[in-house]
Formats: sequence, C-alpha cells, structure tokens
Amino acid sequence: MSHDILVLYYSRTGHTAQLARLIARGIEEVPGMHARLRQVPPVAPVTEVAQPPEPEDGAPYATRQDLADCLGLALGSPTRFGNMAAPLKYFLDGTGAEWASGTLVGKPAAVFTATSSMHGGQETTLLSMALPLLHHGMLLLGLPYTEPALSATQGGGTPYGASHVSGSHGERSIDEHERELARALGRRLADTARKLAGLA
Ligand SMILES: Cc1cc2nc3c(=O)[nH]c(=O)nc-3n(C[C@H](O)[C@H](O)[C@H](O)COP(=O)(O)O)c2cc1C
Repeated sequence: MSHDILVLYYSRTGHTAQLARLIARGIEEVPGMHARLRQVPPVAPVTEVAQPPEPEDGAPYATRQDLADCLGLALGSPTRFGNMAAPLKYFLDGTGAEWASGTLVGKPAAVFTATSSMHGGQETTLLSMALPLLHHGMLLLGLPYTEPALSATQGGGTPYGASHVSGSHGERSIDEHERELARALGRRLADTARKLAGLA
C-alpha cells in the first residue's frame, strides 16, 4: 500500500515550488509517510504544442496514476489575478475520469499559493483550488489558530492554507512564519491521511 501524499503544483518563478518542498518536509516528519512531489506542465497559446516528456527542472510531471496512488493531496499554484494559474486548472479539467470513478473521494487535501503582494488575492486563490477538490469529494484541511505562527505572521500563512508573499520583484524569501505554517500544513495533511487510512 502506498503511503504517499501527492504534493502537486505549478510554479513559474519558483516561489510556489519552494512552498511545495516545505510542505513535503512536513509530510515526511510524520512517521511512515512519504511526499511525492509532482508538477503540472505549462500550457501554450496553442495547447497542442508538445512539452518535453520531462521538465528541465523541478519535480516530474504528474500522471493520473499519482492521483490514484496517493493517500492525500496538497495542491499549489501561484496567484494569477486572484485565481489559480491556467496550467493547474487545465490539469484539473482533465480529471473527469477520476471524478467519475471517485478516485479522490474521502482523501484529505490542502492548498497553497504565492502572491507578489500582501493583499493580492491569496485567500481567493486558495478557495479557487478548494472548489474542484470538493467536487472530487476530498476532505479539505486548513490551518488552525493553535499554530502560533498564524497569529504572528506579517507575511503569508492563512487559515485556508499555506502561502507566501514573494514581493513585487520576487525579492522576498520565505520567512520563518510562512515556513513553519507550510510545514505544519504538510504534517497535518499526512497525519490525517495516516489516521483515515488506518495506519495510526
Ligand atoms: C499573469 C499574472 C497574474 C498575477 N496576478 C497576481 C495577483 O492577482 N496578485 C498578486 O499578488 N500577484 C500576482 N501575480 C504575481 C505572482 O502570483 C507571484 O509572482 C508569485 O510569487 C509567483 O509564483 P511562482 O514563483 O511560483 O511562479 C501574477 C503574476 C502573473 C504572471
């Protein structure tokens, strides 16, 4: 039996990818649980343009089997006009077969994002990613205020999921509160998946 939590993301300039790796670290802090990092390919104006089968850098591209195998899912995207980025939406729009067969029903899920500005739409993006996951029958997890960093943060980190404010030129590194909350989300997701699967 797979003990994997799928950490699936799109990232153009690396900020969301950094959050993904922190969430993966949190997942691996839960005994017996493993993070499977995957990304979705970019989309082109003419979507038939082929992408190389493997990305030049970052995690491998996700397959349908990754969705079937996982015990839980962390889904991440940069904010684009207050919404998830098109490549992630494009990938999700291709999961009709998984929806029809209930592949993700009952599995826990969490969401994460990066924005350039503090009030640039993190919460709306997080909720936009939660919507398709609810249609898939997933059990959405957020972050509780028992996490001290949630009250202390001056940057990202929300009750709806992990987040990072990258700055208008991408100059802002992930700060200690954003980092702690991303790891906490990974731990919470893996711990919940482990319990739901009867492994704990
Ligand atoms: C087309 C486009 C739309 C964007 N829309 C927003 C936005 O609504 N709010 C915001 O704060 N940042 C916005 N950004 C900035 C990105 O969300 C930000 O740079 C993010 O950190 C990029 O993440 P990445 O490094 O994972 O690609 C936008 C960027 C692009 C290219």
